[in-house]
Amino acid sequence: MSNIVSIQNIANYVDQQITIQGWLYAKTGKGKLQFLQVRDGTGTVQAVMFKPNLPEEIFEAGKRLTQESALVVTGVVKQNERAPGVPGGYELDVSELQTVQVAAEYPISPKEHGVEFLLDNRHLWVRSRLQWALLRIRATVMRACRDWLDSHGYLEMSTPILTPAAGEGTSTLFEVDYFGEQLYLAQTGQLYNEANIYSFGKVYCFGPTFRAEKSKTRRHLTEFWMIEPEMAYFTLDDLMAMEEEFVSYVVQRTLEERANELKVLERDTSALERVVPPFPRISYDEALDKLAKIRAETDDPELKELLQIEWGQDFGSPHETELTKLYDRPIFVYGYPSVCKAFYMEPWPGRPEVCKSVDMLAPEGYGEITGGSERISDPDLLLKRIHEEKLPAEAFTWYMDLRRYGSVPHSGFGLGVERTVAWIAGTHHVREAISFPRTLGRVYP
Ligand code: 4AD
Ligand code: MG
Repeated sequence: MSNIVSIQNIANYVDQQITIQGWLYAKTGKGKLQFLQVRDGTGTVQAVMFKPNLPEEIFEAGKRLTQESALVVTGVVKQNERAPGVPGGYELDVSELQTVQVAAEYPISPKEHGVEFLLDNRHLWVRSRLQWALLRIRATVMRACRDWLDSHGYLEMSTPILTPAAGEGTSTLFEVDYFGEQLYLAQTGQLYNEANIYSFGKVYCFGPTFRAEKSKTRRHLTEFWMIEPEMAYFTLDDLMAMEEEFVSYVVQRTLEERANELKVLERDTSALERVVPPFPRISYDEALDKLAKIRAETDDPELKELLQIEWGQDFGSPHETELTKLYDRPIFVYGYPSVCKAFYMEPWPGRPEVCKSVDMLAPEGYGEITGGSERISDPDLLLKRIHEEKLPAEAFTWYMDLRRYGSVPHSGFGLGVERTVAWIAGTHHVREAISFPRTLGRVYP
């Protein structure tokens, strides 16, 4: 067999004979010419079958191929500016073709399908060009996250999925019967990483997390992936400085590595090029003032209504969207009221009703992509907060211990992979940013 090549590397093989192992994405042509759009997982290329140049049986075999048939095709790579595909600009002048399987009639055709139909067929939908581009971007985002952390002295830890205690509030817990004992699926790996920092200094965990979210929004999944760095001796300011470096790197790396995929998605990349430090830092109180101003100035009664908010309430997506419209890159909102945040957050000095929390809000209405804080390091204060939140103190005995043996100020955050990917890729709903989404009302396939 000749030289098997990935389509993404096709530019290196101009005028050479190569072989591609893949599937038929689409087919057009008439008479003596057949154009096969062949995809191999790394890209799509147009394979041209010209009858006079081919044995009869090969040309006929090509004509019989249905959408998604598996094939191995050999030919010489030609440059052709107008050839479609990803990366595009190259085509294959076919000399050999092997049919591996002729696919049954494929349910997803180029015509428009409803989203529920596509989600029912997610196991097939992942092959479609937009979904392919999105999930390639996702892989790069995950790789970039790891690369930045690994090269900045963070050690990757694996934290448990089966947990006895609630990390992020009791209203979104998935319960698991563990041989008669009640456990929960992890909402976060953070608490365990707070233990790990006392051995390793800077750590992160990266895995699936679970929230029984009862609301159907374009930002919520019930199973989502989170990367959570945690650092000893980090203050809130240190945390923001690190987060903006980290997120900028992830965006710039994706721009570099996934230009073709961003083009497939018709993403406005100039919006991403602007994502460089420093990100604006706005306190919750300042954010409320800005929202009040927007409300006062708008003529839209619906927006006025949506933006209504009292001190102490958490932002909804209209608030986040309007705030981020004021800026051209992600913003930090810090110092939220303690009532709308988790129990472990360090109070603001002199203002115990406020905590040293920080959320990063992505531009263009994508909302909160990271949530983090400085953590309480004082044992008495932490116990008081556990009681105030009516959490079962016994489940937190080990967590309290961390405040007894060498406790230091420390901070961390979690970045939601699907929200970050949805923003970078410019796709509307987080469910397309994961290959098999779990949401309220959907666990199939
Ligand atoms: O703000 P959250 O709840 O923070 C934590 O879980 C902290 N323990 C993280 C930490 O400090 N180590 O969640 C963090 C991020 C959010 O900003 C959001 O991007 C994402 O996780 N997220 C979700 N993504 C999709 N669907 C959901 N239901 C999500 N809930 C949170
Ligand atoms: Mg949050």
